[in-house]
Amino acid sequence: MDEKRRAWLAERRAAVVAEYDDEAPTYDEDEYPVPLHASFVERLLAMCPPGGLVLDAPCGTGKYFAQVTRSGRRVIGADQSAGMLAQARARGLAEDLVHVGLQELAFEAAFDAAMTIDAMENVPPEDWPLVLRNLARALRDGGPLYMTVEESTEATIDEAYRSLTEAGVPAVRGEVVEGDVAGYHFYPSRDRVVGWLADAGLEIVDEELDQQEDFGYRHLIVRAR
Ligand SMILES: C[S@@+](CC[C@H](N)C(=O)[O-])C[C@H]1O[C@@H](n2cnc3c(N)ncnc32)[C@H](O)[C@@H]1O
Repeated sequence: MDEKRRAWLAERRAAVVAEYDDEAPTYDEDEYPVPLHASFVERLLAMCPPGGLVLDAPCGTGKYFAQVTRSGRRVIGADQSAGMLAQARARGLAEDLVHVGLQELAFEAAFDAAMTIDAMENVPPEDWPLVLRNLARALRDGGPLYMTVEESTEATIDEAYRSLTEAGVPAVRGEVVEGDVAGYHFYPSRDRVVGWLADAGLEIVDEELDQQEDFGYRHLIVRAR
């Protein structure tokens, strides 16, 4: 990666942290409907032993903590935003909360299941392999990982790429920084995601696409092959 792109990505990551720190106190007032997300959390929990430990990374304000603890499982949250973690802490449900980025997660065989919900869009392509390795390493005995992958329209992606490159920004296709993207989104194709998962030794065991008008969420449960 050249220095200009490295610096730009570092600046974008800082913008994402600042955006969520700012939004944190009011984040839960603006809840979006997530029935399929909740259904996938349920499917993940069904694959996790009773009393098992779930990593919610990034947990944000801990929207899914109660669903986990109601099911008789325990939860530890992690996030790079101190503001979001403060909200998560106020729920009083997590066994622990860790201020750490997905790129720096260092857990080893510590969890029975993990979930990475509505967050991979903040991860640049260069970091996907590292983040997947970190999540896979955190799981014991091939435990399942539920992750969402946001999708956008080709028109949005093309327009963002055109305007960023015209402005001299060292962006790659799929990156968007304007609009409702918390400072940075990257939308990989399904093929690219499947390739990264395979390289991390992960296979898809459940998948659904929730397609809305101008965006979609691909829901995946993966586990070590
Ligand atoms: C849209 S919120 C979703 C939070 C939670 N998973 C949920 O579904 O409510 C995105 C969260 O991802 C966190 N985040 C984004 N990029 C991250 C990274 N590289 N490492 C750790 N946390 C990150 C943000 O701070 C924010 O709390």
